[in-house]
Amino acid sequence: MDGNILIVDDDPNVVEIITDSLRSRGYVTESAYNGEDALRKYEDFKPDLVVLDVVLPGKNGLAVCGEIRARDVNYDVPVIMISANPIPDDLLETYLLGAQDFIRKPFSVKEILAKVDTFLSQACGRRDLREKNEILEDEVLKGQEDLKRVNRELKKKVFDMRTLFDLSQDLNRLRDPDDLVNVFFLTIAGQLGIGSLALFYARSDGDAYLTFAGGKGIRDGVLRAFQLSRAAGLSGHLLGGQEVVDLRRSALPGEARREASFMAGLGFHYCYPLVVKSSLVGVVFFGGKVSGQRYRANELEMFRSICSSAATGLENARLYQELQSTYLSTIKVLVSTIEAKDAYTRGHTDRVALFARMIAEEMQLERKDLETVSFGATLHDIGKLGVYEDILNKPGELTDGEWKIVRSHPEVGANIIRNMKFLESACDLVRHHHERLDGRGYPDGLKGKEISIGARIVAVADSFDAMTSDRPYRQAFSYQEAIEQLRMQTDKFDSDVIEHLVRLIEAGRIRGE
Ligand SMILES: [Fe+2]
Ligand SMILES: [Fe+2]
Repeated sequence: MDGNILIVDDDPNVVEIITDSLRSRGYVTESAYNGEDALRKYEDFKPDLVVLDVVLPGKNGLAVCGEIRARDVNYDVPVIMISANPIPDDLLETYLLGAQDFIRKPFSVKEILAKVDTFLSQACGRRDLREKNEILEDEVLKGQEDLKRVNRELKKKVFDMRTLFDLSQDLNRLRDPDDLVNVFFLTIAGQLGIGSLALFYARSDGDAYLTFAGGKGIRDGVLRAFQLSRAAGLSGHLLGGQEVVDLRRSALPGEARREASFMAGLGFHYCYPLVVKSSLVGVVFFGGKVSGQRYRANELEMFRSICSSAATGLENARLYQELQSTYLSTIKVLVSTIEAKDAYTRGHTDRVALFARMIAEEMQLERKDLETVSFGATLHDIGKLGVYEDILNKPGELTDGEWKIVRSHPEVGANIIRNMKFLESACDLVRHHHERLDGRGYPDGLKGKEISIGARIVAVADSFDAMTSDRPYRQAFSYQEAIEQLRMQTDKFDSDVIEHLVRLIEAGRIRGE
């Protein structure tokens, strides 16, 4: 049998008898003859079972048993008490709770052996059971942790998917590259906790270089002056691999290495290409995470997804703007045919567009409204396409019928552009550039603030240019005279708009020829 047995008795004969019989059975034994010695041996020998006499010199067996129990809280080491004297009942209750059994002297060796065998195998079974139980508890805990982790990862994935979906919707919706770049930065920096970001992209299809479009967490002064060749250097390398490139480690060829070390010197660690239909439209540079941790594989995967949506979005925005400018040039050609019909208004449209845009900027209108004012001012007289040339050029007074035709041009103009989606907002300016603050204008007789600020600006720019140009019936006014005329007509024009025009003239930003 396996097991270490500690035998404690002050009688060496007893110790010898028990030792012999246990050793003959295969047990390893150790002996002690007093209480203190017994506790020392308990620590050194680490017995699996203790045979313990009650009456010992010094610390008695009951006290020793109490101390063993205090050290062995799981009852792994059974204690068999032996005594020549009967133990009083009250002591039995108090102390023998910690012992497995009590044997009276004289005892039979067989009895001792049988009890040692039984208690050892019970203790061994208990220990096994406890260990299995602990393993099981660990596994349950680990299972719960795994479940929590999987749950967290799942939630994060759902969140990431939703973010990606929202983002791709945004990127498809946005038509302004600057808005798009902002959304891109906010999303990517927020999602991945990136400390610094910079985007270089090609503003038009034919651009040979990628220029700085914006960044986050960087000093952009240097970057504004930096441009990347679109075909060679880093761009060429990125287009070939379409992978995240570590700027500090990758073995890059000549020019690409120079560009990479320049960007690495500014704190960027990686770059990634924005590619649409095998064509490079931009390059994103980014630094490490704010937290200082490394990027995980799933984060880089998300980064690539966002970049891919951004690349498509940027390309769509560029195509949309190209389409817009094609429309605008077509319309400008139409407008120039009006000017060809009316010799005295040559250059009028361009000047009105320029003045209106400058006034709107001076009044600090929002960027979208500035665009609307530009479009509206360019197109304000497009309705004159429907007015006969001889009426437009008639030197004398117009008849009532002729006036009616001339006065229909804002309405006709608005109808011409009404169906062009991107000119929707300019429609209002075209229709209302002849309205007056006192409500006596045309075609709708709007009053004061019922007339949009854009239409009030175009009205001032239009009249200012008309006054300062020669007409069949009078010489051009000087700028000063025109301003005086405008200031007198407070029933017609917005005086705040006039004063902004005056500021531009006084600053020399609008100059007469
Ligand atoms: Fe007009
Ligand atoms: Fe006009």
